[in-house]
Amino acid sequence: MNVYDSHRMADILHPLGYRAVDTPDDADMVILNTCHIREKATDKVFSDLGRMRDHKDERAKSGKKTLVAVAGCVAQAEGELIMDRAPYVDLVFGPQTYHELPEMVVRALGERVVNTDFPVESKFDSLPVDHVTQDGPSAFVSIQEGCDKFCTFCVVPYTRGAEYSRPAEKILDEAKTLRDRGVKDITLLGQNVNAYHGEAADGSTWSLGRLIQALGDIDGVERIRYMTSHPRDVDQDLIDAHRDVPALMPFMHLPVQSGSDAILKSMNRKHTADHYREIIAKLRAARPDIAFSSDFIVGFPGETEADFEATMQLVRDVRYMSAYSFKYSARPGTPAANMQGLVHDAIMDERLQRLQALLMEQQREFNTAMIGQTVPVLFDGRGRKDGQLYGRTPWNQPMHVMAPAQYFGQIAQVRVNDATATSITGELAQ
Ligand code: 5AD
Ligand code: SF4
Repeated sequence: MNVYDSHRMADILHPLGYRAVDTPDDADMVILNTCHIREKATDKVFSDLGRMRDHKDERAKSGKKTLVAVAGCVAQAEGELIMDRAPYVDLVFGPQTYHELPEMVVRALGERVVNTDFPVESKFDSLPVDHVTQDGPSAFVSIQEGCDKFCTFCVVPYTRGAEYSRPAEKILDEAKTLRDRGVKDITLLGQNVNAYHGEAADGSTWSLGRLIQALGDIDGVERIRYMTSHPRDVDQDLIDAHRDVPALMPFMHLPVQSGSDAILKSMNRKHTADHYREIIAKLRAARPDIAFSSDFIVGFPGETEADFEATMQLVRDVRYMSAYSFKYSARPGTPAANMQGLVHDAIMDERLQRLQALLMEQQREFNTAMIGQTVPVLFDGRGRKDGQLYGRTPWNQPMHVMAPAQYFGQIAQVRVNDATATSITGELAQ
């Protein structure tokens, strides 16, 4: 979501003459787009800001002014603190206000500006439909923002605000505009993307599954993905879309966090481990080649060895193609931050290691099972070596393949020659 937001900021600033550059070295403005999800991400903001101050001082020596801005969820949650601790920061703005960037930038040239409002609807209404800075065949489209789930560990409902779904027609227009720019692969974004319930042109409400059906009918849109989903919102429409829409990729990121019912309850996830197993089974029945990834938190307050073993068992039962796993990080203002039963850091480390070893083994199994198969790869990047392109399989695995430059932006059949837990190699089949 932050990658998408950063692109949209570049789009909005484009008419003012700003262009995105690869490094901050000679930039007139630096926007640090931040994440508040875990403590580590937040800590990084303050160390990065120190570097921005040096950068600003350095440029000031040659009489150049640098605007330093902090965007995103840390800006939302800790805007005042940033202003106090970092006097060289000119502008702080939350994730729901970046459509106001042109005015904010002008104001910030004269005074320090903090904007942490939540005008979600107006943000989407005033974002340009065209992604002028779009490059390559893969693009993100934000369809939903915010979250009303209030998992007890999570800051998102406080930093991104309440759930909001964009009208379906606007999303379809954006997809068509992107298609006209050569985009073939669209990833629909939302903190709770399958809670999507957008208004359609006829006044009815569309689910994510319904929206995907309509996107699948757009000529030229060849790959559709979405993230991130919540198990509670996997409905029949979405399962049907996986069965019926050929452009919908056979992949789903479906975070479960824990395999223990007691911990799931304490996390306020509102489902059991078995309910999650049932969802996975239904999706596999609808689309046999579907693969899953997930997020896990180890060491949530009160997690016993038996709770952790339940997580390991769930992983063994589901078999993931990849996953992200984290040590629990207490976030200020969340209910879990006041819970008893803190798990010792050394125990968290040890559990994380065991979980990651199991997940890595499953990832290796998934990748190596592809050896000898031919898969369609969409080339959406330049390779590391000359004559190479970077592409992605239907399961979003990255691949470097020797291919002529004109294959960039195209889908080609690639035979998988070799694979490890973290890489896959292959050659053009035609
Ligand atoms: N501690 C650790 N991990 C967290 N996540 C969210 N909040 C926390 C937290 N307080 C993880 C969850 C979520 C992912 C985006 O980040 O696994 O799915
Ligand atoms: Fe956070 Fe996701 Fe839970 Fe919403 S559903 S509170 S974004 S973990």
